[in-house]
Amino acid sequence: MEITPFALERWFAEHEADNLMLAESGIRPLAPGRFDLVPEGMGYVIPTNGSPELRDRIGERYGRGADEVLLTCGTQEANFVTLAALMGEHAVVVTPTYQSLHALPEAFGSVTRVELDAADGWGLDPDAVAEAVRPETAVVVVNNPNNPTGRVHGAATVEAVYEIAADAGAYLLCDEVYRPLADAGTAPPPAASLGPYGVSTCGLSKGYGLAGLRLGWLAGPPEVVEAAWQWKDYTTISPPAVSHRVAEQVLDPETEATVLAENRALAAENRERVDEFVTEHGLDWSDPPAGVNAFVEAPEGFYGGRSFCERAVAEADVVLAPGEAFDQPEQFRLGFGSEPAHLEEGLSRLDAFLDRHA
Ligand SMILES: Cc1ncc(COP(=O)(O)O)c(C=O)c1O
Repeated sequence: MEITPFALERWFAEHEADNLMLAESGIRPLAPGRFDLVPEGMGYVIPTNGSPELRDRIGERYGRGADEVLLTCGTQEANFVTLAALMGEHAVVVTPTYQSLHALPEAFGSVTRVELDAADGWGLDPDAVAEAVRPETAVVVVNNPNNPTGRVHGAATVEAVYEIAADAGAYLLCDEVYRPLADAGTAPPPAASLGPYGVSTCGLSKGYGLAGLRLGWLAGPPEVVEAAWQWKDYTTISPPAVSHRVAEQVLDPETEATVLAENRALAAENRERVDEFVTEHGLDWSDPPAGVNAFVEAPEGFYGGRSFCERAVAEADVVLAPGEAFDQPEQFRLGFGSEPAHLEEGLSRLDAFLDRHA
């Protein structure tokens, strides 16, 4: 079995330490002082799938019980153990997307990709999913809201894709790690709430500003959660105890509402600044309705996203994410979830860099 190198992680490893990051896909980190960081003990979390109280609280948002939730080390592990558990011969994966969502099923079996339609603001056509599904398809994989485009697929689309998967006896795995940044008016229904074939993955990294906790989960039918738990016995055994302690606090309904309101307000403020930047330089962008990822067409004269990002890091010390990491060579991804002063500094450097090349 072979796994493709993770292009974005390798790019970050090369550049992130010494330059200004405008490529983070989540909201800026919360201050650790806001939380009690002391768990009851420093052993494994028992039971190792997470405390029943916390799983129950998470399950409520999907209309599911504690046995239909598994706590993991980040959304990354939630996706890994879900795909390891579900993958048979074939998967349908909607792309562009976060690399692991297609690289893992490509390592485990074969994948048919369904492309979002750039001309339709990166919309998802359920008919294209229906055409790609085969009798041996085990899982259909969607990321909603989408990384890298920020596109939110609405309720009608998600429900149509769910029906297509369920009719074929395949699960719909929806990575919803950016969903907490979408407000009630924008957020589509989570896949796990749609019926017996729906699985949602999520975590505290992107919307809550707690990426370093490495705390995620999956929610779905009990047989999927049980099978994923069996894989987790071989990866990380239990969620980290300190992170579990913080998750109990941040997922308390009152604290959660406060934190997400702060984070969405920051995202909205920063989005305005990015709007000014792309307008000033005449760049096409994905104009994301939720989240903190802007997918932007590389300026003319730079020979595409990768070359633009290489020049930006070399000449302006600013790290952007090349579209190649998402098989979209004409684009780059700009993350605007940082503190406004950090974003301002990064965009000012890019302003000067682009003016020099105008
Ligand atoms: C769609 C998606 N899923 C999962 C992850 C990883 O999330 P976590 O930090 O919760 O493991 C990312 C990180 O960028 C992502 O974009």
